[in-house]
Amino acid sequence: MSTLNINTITTTDYERFKNFLEQACGILLGNGKEYLIISRMTKLLRDENIASYDELLTAVESGNPHHMRDAVIDAMTTNETSWFRDRSPFEALEKEVFSEMDNEGKRQCRIWSSACSSGQEPYTISITLSEHLALFPMSSLTRTQIIATDISTSMLVEAKQAEYDEALLGRGLSAERKQQFFRQVGDRWMVTDDIKRRVSFKEQNLLLSYDALGKFDIIFCRNVLIYFSPERKSDILNRMARALNPKGYLFLGASETITGYSDAFEMIRGQQGVYYRLKS
Ligand SMILES: C[S@@+](CC[C@H](N)C(=O)[O-])C[C@H]1O[C@@H](n2cnc3c(N)ncnc32)[C@H](O)[C@@H]1O
Repeated sequence: MSTLNINTITTTDYERFKNFLEQACGILLGNGKEYLIISRMTKLLRDENIASYDELLTAVESGNPHHMRDAVIDAMTTNETSWFRDRSPFEALEKEVFSEMDNEGKRQCRIWSSACSSGQEPYTISITLSEHLALFPMSSLTRTQIIATDISTSMLVEAKQAEYDEALLGRGLSAERKQQFFRQVGDRWMVTDDIKRRVSFKEQNLLLSYDALGKFDIIFCRNVLIYFSPERKSDILNRMARALNPKGYLFLGASETITGYSDAFEMIRGQQGVYYRLKS
């Protein structure tokens, strides 16, 4: 058996790793993050019996074996998320955007949760819509579809299961919403069918074409642009603008902005916070 040499990474292999990650999923690693690679790769290297970073990089660069690329991306992406993350985007969605769509009598609304991680964001959107429909039974938005995508295949598996433990539910979910929108199964909680049925999941790398996804009325692109270079941010935001229907909306993360990256959107300073609308 080969000797494992995985506790250090050479300068050359660090550069190769950085290049692979930027090209494959847009994530900029910067300098001095050797510890991050080592801490996130050790398990994979041991499981796959890979003896060095050179061997790992040769596999991902050549695409052989095929699954190694996905496994490295899975291990290197940060999947941090929570229910109703930052609250205000979901309040703006319910009070301002859904209400405006109702006023316009919009029937078919398509929403894209574009970096959905383990599902909390798209299910939060679906819960927000259910709460809106309960408040406004005459709302026209009954035929809303939520398309949730991520690059991480393991996150998509978790998201589709729609099953969370108590600790994960505690991150942003009130006791009332837990009782109303989840069903207890043993020591886990399942999202109810009413919330689940609007959401469909798909693998999508934000660096690649969005054409196959169709057009949207609202896009959530939250807490993912922070990892990308200015050029990537610009490209993604401009392509998202083209994936939106006229007057479509864009929600970014609390520390993200379009300023300097795209002039396709106007900023809306709503009562609940800032979001964006496609310029007409
Ligand atoms: C920090 S989570 C954000 C989750 C959620 N949007 C939120 O705000 O809570 C970032 C997600 O972006 C995904 N991601 C990273 N690079 C991506 C890419 N190139 N294409 C699609 N998703 C990507 C990761 O897999 C991860 O699930």
